[in-house]
Amino acid sequence: AIGPATVSTGHLPPDPAVDTLVQEAWDRYRDVSEGKVADYIPALAKASAEWFGICVADVDGGIHAVGDTDREFSIQSISKPFVFALVCQALGGGRARASIGVNATGLPFNSVMAIELNADRTMNPMVNAGAIATTSLAPGANAEARWSFIREGLSRFAGRELAMDHDVYESEAATNQRNQGIARLLLGYERMYSDPDDATDIYTRQCALNVTARDLAVMGATLADGGVNPVTRERVVDEDRCRRVLAVMATAGLYEQSGDWLYEVGLPGKSGVAGGLVTTAPGKGGLGVFSPPLDAAGNSVRGQLATRFLSERLGLNLF
Ligand code: DON
Repeated sequence: AIGPATVSTGHLPPDPAVDTLVQEAWDRYRDVSEGKVADYIPALAKASAEWFGICVADVDGGIHAVGDTDREFSIQSISKPFVFALVCQALGGGRARASIGVNATGLPFNSVMAIELNADRTMNPMVNAGAIATTSLAPGANAEARWSFIREGLSRFAGRELAMDHDVYESEAATNQRNQGIARLLLGYERMYSDPDDATDIYTRQCALNVTARDLAVMGATLADGGVNPVTRERVVDEDRCRRVLAVMATAGLYEQSGDWLYEVGLPGKSGVAGGLVTTAPGKGGLGVFSPPLDAAGNSVRGQLATRFLSERLGLNLF
């Protein structure tokens, strides 16, 4: 049992209470041994199953961190909602929605069947098809300019310059034939908006950007704060973009487990195969957890447990 739920209010509880609960979450789940470190991208298999960090960032800029919260890992799919936010900001939410879609697939993140089964093909920006198509919409005269747009935008969300892990990039670029196939298939369906090989390459780069659990908490808190980074105070995207991005995260952020997640945690979240998990409590703050062992859908096991605990004990559930 997780213990008594806090009644939801407009803010996070006072600092000492949050610090105590973050520590309690870490103590509770540090010995969980379920899950498996991803190895379909060979470089990810080097991660330790022991690494575990939890960070809460509130919209006032307060940071509450326990464990491996400064250890860098590749952002992977957690880049997807933030790149969607940047593309919505550049193109307008209406055009982004019409070009990508916002419905759940109920299928794994790299499903080709989902493309074949659904008339809008891309489905949503959280699965690989929709995410590569979103990346293909990034503004810029050439691939280098589109990559700069994405790297700089994600860095503004994190509040620091993010750099790519070259080992992870090379490893994925050498083994991502499936994503290359998805991008070309989408071109055949007129749902790819720039060169498919360039888009897959930029998508692979964005997934290889290194972040920490602390960065994820700040990025989640930026969405919670209507698009203003609570640490740097820079506006990254408009408030309306955040609302749309959070809706898509709630629908599909944990892939085919998104319904279970929303039922238990009641907040928009997004997972990545390196073991990161970001969650947003609108108006209150962001949670970033890092723990590499994943469940069968590709979501961090300890990440989900710790977030569920904190959502309940901090009274964050939206429903
Ligand atoms: O495209 C891929 O397969 C990876 N770059 C990202 C997948 C991912 O993070 C799925 N998430 N849980």
